[in-house]
Amino acid sequence: MTEPSPSVPSTSVAAAAGTETKDSWSSQKYAKNASFVPVLGAPVLKLLDPQPNEHILDLGAGDGVLTIDLEKRCKSVVAIDSSAEMIAAATKIGCKDAQVVDGHDLIEHPLANGQFDAVFSNAALHWMKKDPVRVIQGVNKCLKPQGRFVAEMGGHMNVAEVRSQLHAALRKRGVDPEPYDPWFFPGAKTYARMLEENGFKVDSIELIPRYTALSTDVAGWCDTFGFMFFKPFEGDEKQRQEILEEVQSNLRFSQDEGVWYIMYVRLRFKATKIN
Ligand SMILES: C[S@@+](CC[C@H](N)C(=O)[O-])C[C@H]1O[C@@H](n2cnc3c(N)ncnc32)[C@H](O)[C@@H]1O
Repeated sequence: MTEPSPSVPSTSVAAAAGTETKDSWSSQKYAKNASFVPVLGAPVLKLLDPQPNEHILDLGAGDGVLTIDLEKRCKSVVAIDSSAEMIAAATKIGCKDAQVVDGHDLIEHPLANGQFDAVFSNAALHWMKKDPVRVIQGVNKCLKPQGRFVAEMGGHMNVAEVRSQLHAALRKRGVDPEPYDPWFFPGAKTYARMLEENGFKVDSIELIPRYTALSTDVAGWCDTFGFMFFKPFEGDEKQRQEILEEVQSNLRFSQDEGVWYIMYVRLRFKATKIN
């Protein structure tokens, strides 16, 4: 069956709507409500199979919890992230080289020097919605010939129940949610095509449904990850709380024995730079 191809948003639409995610991240909320994210990154680290002599770039490294793990297994790691707050947190926990760099700017950055053995990314590429092709091209430029691009990101139908509720909550308040939706969740065929059209051979790519227990409730999840949907109501704390309560109430069936769950769908892949 053919997967639907999500449209890739144009730079102008995302920028005009203000869907930039820079520094909207809170490292404190992330540590409290999202500690499962790096923990569940183990399979993609296994797929990367880092070697002791390798020089690796961690794209969208966040607060550096996985980066530290990676540092123990290879020669050197450069961690990059667009959020200064996340990079400060990564440096604080001991990441040796953590820099504020937007994935969209990688293509023109001195790091795009063809010197990396691998580019690794966990749970970050779907946030780089402004121009995902440019991100892939930047990654390609960072790699040595035959270098590996190994990543896991949100894939088609990821967090669809909560995403739909956030859309409905905005629409109910007369706001078009599309410009505030920060995520790009491609299907496997779509992303494979994007990789192949931009200098990679795809070694493996698959969508993986993952029923995920949260360390918070749905409102806490929306507060940590859904912050872009609250941009139209900035400064209106009452409205924000109302939306959080409404979304959580509509998703009350996502709770079992006191634990809240969200249906994640991951897109995990390994690709090799051609030539
Ligand atoms: C869910 S966190 C994942 C962090 C980390 N890789 C982990 O596994 O815990 C997503 C990260 O992507 C970063 N990010 C979002 N947009 C980005 C962009 N355009 N360029 C670089 N990093 C970005 C965010 O700042 C955030 O730290």
